[in-house]
Amino acid sequence: MNVSTPSASIPRHVAVIMDGNGRWAARRRRPRAIGHRAGARTVNLCIDFCLARGIGALTLFAFSSENWGRPEEEVGALMKLFVGALDREVDELHRRGVRLRFIGDRRRFSEAIRGRMAAAEARTADNTRLTLTVAASYGGRQDIAMAARSLAEDVAAGRLRPDEVDEAALGARVALADLPAPDLFIRTGGDLRISNFLLWQLAYTELWFTETLWPELGIEELEQALGAYASRERRFGLTGEQIANAQDAVPGEGHS
Ligand code: FPP
Repeated sequence: MNVSTPSASIPRHVAVIMDGNGRWAARRRRPRAIGHRAGARTVNLCIDFCLARGIGALTLFAFSSENWGRPEEEVGALMKLFVGALDREVDELHRRGVRLRFIGDRRRFSEAIRGRMAAAEARTADNTRLTLTVAASYGGRQDIAMAARSLAEDVAAGRLRPDEVDEAALGARVALADLPAPDLFIRTGGDLRISNFLLWQLAYTELWFTETLWPELGIEELEQALGAYASRERRFGLTGEQIANAQDAVPGEGHS
C-alpha cells in the first residue's frame, strides 16, 4: 500500500485491440488487406492522440499468435504492411520521441521482419515521450506460460526457491513488466472480449468498447474513451470509502 494512485483523468498506459478492418473492407466490397491498410492510418492517429494528451504508453494488438491461421494471402498482406510501416514510419516516430518495441514470439517472423524490428527498437531505445509496444505473434496465455517456464528454469537451476514463486516474480517476467499496467483498454469492432491479449496485465484495467470499426475510429471517440476512464472509480479490490480515504495508497500497483 505504498504507491500513488494513477492520475485521476489521464491514463498512463492504453492498450488497444484494433478490430474491424476486415468488416470495413467487406462493406466496401474490397479485399481484407485494404481494410488493414486503412487500419494502419488509424494507428498513426492513435499515436498522435497519445502524444498530444501526454499518455506515456500505448500497446497495440497488431497480430495474435492465432492470426497465423488466417488465409495465406491475408497473412502475406499483413507482413507486407508491417515491413512497409517499419520502413516508412520509424524515422518519424524517432523524431517525435517514440520508443518502439515489440512483444510476442518473433521467431515466427521472417529474418527481414525480425531485423527491422530489432533495428527499430535499437534506434528508438532512448526515447521517452511515448513507449509504443506492438504486440505481434502475441498471445496472453503464451506470455504467462513463457514466464512460468522462466521461473521453472530458475528453480531447476537453484537460482530461485519454490517459495519465492509469487505474483511479483511472475509479474516481473511477463511482457511489459517495466511499464505501469494498462489503465485503459480499448476494443473497436463491437466484440466484448479480451481475445487472449495481455491476460495478466489487464487484471485491474478499465475496459472500454465501441461498435466503431478500427479504420473509422476518430479523435472524438478517443476523447470519449478518456472521458469514460476519468469518470470511473478504480477500487483495486478495496471499498469506495477506503479509496476516498487513502488517495495515495493503492495495492498491487504496477501489476494491478
Ligand atoms: C483485426 O481486424 C485486425 C488485425 C488482425 C490486424 C491489425 C493490423 C493493423 C491495424 C495494421 C497496421 C498495424 C501496424 C502496427 C502497422 P480483423 O481483420 O479481425 O477485422 P474483422 O473482425 O472485421 O474481420
